[in-house]
Amino acid sequence: KKDQLILGIETSCDETAVAIVKNGQEIAANVVASQIESHKRFGGVVPEIASRHHVEEMTIVLEEALKQAEVTMKDIDAVAVTEGPGLVGALLIGVNAAKALAFAHQKPLVPVHHIAGHIYANRLITEMQFPLLALVVSGGHTELVYMKEHGHFEVIGETRDDAAGEAYDKVARVLNMPYPGGPHIDRLAQEGAASIPLPRAWLEEDSYDFSFSGLKSAVINTVHNAEQRGETIAPEDLAASFQESVIEVLVAKTERAVRQYGVKQVLLAGGVAANKGLRNALNNTFSKSEEVELVIPPLFLCTDNAAMIAAAGSVMFEKGIRADLSLNANPGLEI
Ligand code: KG4
Ligand code: ZN
Repeated sequence: KKDQLILGIETSCDETAVAIVKNGQEIAANVVASQIESHKRFGGVVPEIASRHHVEEMTIVLEEALKQAEVTMKDIDAVAVTEGPGLVGALLIGVNAAKALAFAHQKPLVPVHHIAGHIYANRLITEMQFPLLALVVSGGHTELVYMKEHGHFEVIGETRDDAAGEAYDKVARVLNMPYPGGPHIDRLAQEGAASIPLPRAWLEEDSYDFSFSGLKSAVINTVHNAEQRGETIAPEDLAASFQESVIEVLVAKTERAVRQYGVKQVLLAGGVAANKGLRNALNNTFSKSEEVELVIPPLFLCTDNAAMIAAAGSVMFEKGIRADLSLNANPGLEI
């Protein structure tokens, strides 16, 4: 049987990415052009700048991916693209590139949800075993997703305000650290002690939802109050305390959901999956378990990339999911 080759395109935020995945599980090419340097001086992603970069980079990244995989568009079975959610102007560049490719080369077009992509990054390193639970933590999302089979997604909990990564980035800003702040807080937290009392938002007893804006405000107030009193707070202790509060809630809710839903696997996904403290805490919680397997992808598959979109696209393609050339970017797409 001929190998299946899916070309994936991802432009939902500030990475222009094209990848080619073989048989849904093997990376044949994975090219990512990051724009972080362009957004850094603004302290966050500027949508207009992101769109312009995507336009400039798209054909370069596409050609590089085909070269890396040593294939031409003729060999590709389908074009998968992130339809949403994300920045509308950024998504549009990817969606239109995918439509142009599909039209010019007469290939099926497969729309992919960005979060499905993050979850399916895991299929590039291991076989998925159902039922499973995915903890998706990124700059735009904090979600617990239950999957009973391929292509079935049930969001059992989500953030009611800030995403986990967003909270990291905002706290980093208060501590005068560059964007994106997550990795800096993570590093600083390893050097400090979680000695500053900060709140944990457990919400209702049976809720799997999250809330991080109260914690973020508590950190900001702690800094301002100390300034007013002429005291200094050790930034490493504040980072460690903030990180402990985020991780404690993420891990406890994941653990409870694992028990309630009786899942076989726990998958970690999204940019915050790079967090060392979170990885350690999840490992400590699940490594001794014989019933559940914890899967944590390598860093390059946790942050935005197109291999994950192609991996999810492969499953959607086999399920017969197609879009026609009227496909539009959908910034608020629900999974
Ligand atoms: O998945 P991603 O690349 O983009 C979105 O879809 O949002 O995630 C980026 C987010 C940023 O908020 C960044 O600060 C955060 O992931 N992040 C981290 C770490 N590395 C990246 N947060 C905490 N600790 C890290 N080590
Ligand atoms: Zn993402």
